[in-house]
Amino acid sequence: MFIKQFKYSTDNLGYLVYSTSEGIAIDAGGVDDTLAFAEKNNIHIKYVSNTHSHYDHTPGNKALLEKTTAQFIDCKKIKSDQAIALDKEILTVFHTPGHTDDSITFMANDFLVTGDTLFNGTIGNCFSGDLKGFFQSLKRLVSLPENMKIYVGHDYVMESMKMAKIIEKDNPNIEAYIKKYNSGLIVSTLHDEIKANPYLRFNAEGMIKNLQKRNMQTDTEYARFKSIMDIY
Ligand SMILES: [Fe+2]
Repeated sequence: MFIKQFKYSTDNLGYLVYSTSEGIAIDAGGVDDTLAFAEKNNIHIKYVSNTHSHYDHTPGNKALLEKTTAQFIDCKKIKSDQAIALDKEILTVFHTPGHTDDSITFMANDFLVTGDTLFNGTIGNCFSGDLKGFFQSLKRLVSLPENMKIYVGHDYVMESMKMAKIIEKDNPNIEAYIKKYNSGLIVSTLHDEIKANPYLRFNAEGMIKNLQKRNMQTDTEYARFKSIMDIY
């Protein structure tokens, strides 16, 4: 499975995930770029979908559905794991509520499209209000192989690393993470995230010490996650 990233608006990121000849457009707000790429590479856009229904992720849906024969996959209807076939390959989609109730994640063999659930360097706001559910969603992502590449909904890398330094100023991995930043392709690995993204570091020794120094709750992983959320 392959993935092509398209920037649109200020910092939004959309995608075409594709196999040999079939693809799915995800949060594809950059309609012209997406269609041009698909045409040039002989990719038939079979599906159009979104990581969640926030308006800044869905502006391309209408035009894409009008200009192609694609079927719409509604993120609101994904409650249990589902398989999306592209040629002979399978893309798995699963429910990762928290940022919104309808947030979903797309998973190929070696990459994830996480939308506003997990960003490169931070996590999304918990607009659903269900912090425990959000934590469970993040736990599922963290349990995946660390070489998984992480493709997200916005380029927030630099702001996120500023935040990371405030939360955990002694974490040496933050500088290494910043050095890898390439504004032309916004991507990291799950390994990079566990090293530098403070919100995924609820089991990291350095973070636990940091929370203890701040006299914050560290008894359970959820307590540590909440403590990290409370810092910033
Ligand atoms: Fe969002």
